[in-house]
Amino acid sequence: MTVYFIGAGPGDPELITVKGQRLIRSCPVIIYAGSLVPAAVLEGHQAQQVVNSAELHLEQIIDLIKAAHARGQDVARVHSGDPSLYGAIGEQIRCLRELGIPFQIIPGVTAVAACAALLETELTLPDIAQSVILTRYADKTRMPAGEAFDDLARHGTTLAIHLGVNHLEKIVAELLPHYGADCPIAVVHRATWPDQDWALGTLSDIGKKVAAKGFRRTALIIVGRVLANDSFSESSLYRASHAHLYRPE
Ligand SMILES: C[S@@+](CC[C@H](N)C(=O)[O-])C[C@H]1O[C@@H](n2cnc3c(N)ncnc32)[C@H](O)[C@@H]1O
Repeated sequence: MTVYFIGAGPGDPELITVKGQRLIRSCPVIIYAGSLVPAAVLEGHQAQQVVNSAELHLEQIIDLIKAAHARGQDVARVHSGDPSLYGAIGEQIRCLRELGIPFQIIPGVTAVAACAALLETELTLPDIAQSVILTRYADKTRMPAGEAFDDLARHGTTLAIHLGVNHLEKIVAELLPHYGADCPIAVVHRATWPDQDWALGTLSDIGKKVAAKGFRRTALIIVGRVLANDSFSESSLYRASHAHLYRPE
């Protein structure tokens, strides 16, 4: 018996891995994060038990897993995007280790990748940004020391901010001194879902644009000069004069 933590991807049911889909279709027990995982991702399942974890607390989830373990049944534990990001799998893994219940993690397409694809953007353009900081707005979860927007923004690189759309005004105010009012910013709402939408602007006008669209939740904020920049150098990867192992001189 194994618990499979499966990344369901950003919403589009075709953006799950082949392995993740195969496991969803074969596991007799499915526990899925219903607030972000669409029912379409579970299509074709033959499970005897399908539970939406949005309605449960940790102990109840672990009780379900323990019961499946006692019956010798595999569990598909389905999380949105990639389970390693803001999926609260850490605490589940800790419990499973203590209980001696085996598990495996199947990665998924994260919202950041889906939003970059939708915006037709490379998040790491030569000379513009070579790092991407994945972070979140801290509401009930405290940010560890050194991870306030003020600290992260000092790097000036591409930022992908989760769980923050309802606090956009505050986020913009903290980023402004570091990125400047003309810095491009995108807010992508429900990327890859049938009703996906986005607003693209600058730090000075994004607030109005997002308010007009009415985005309230499931939106990712991407900030950085990579969003509107054609004046970057070509990478050395495909430069004709650059020889390497696979393309010797
Ligand atoms: C609890 S986190 C889960 C992140 C997920 N594990 C991942 O890898 O993308 C939820 C947040 O991720 C972002 N998010 C998840 N799915 C999204 C989507 N389809 N479009 C835009 N943002 C999304 C939003 O910021 C949302 O508030």
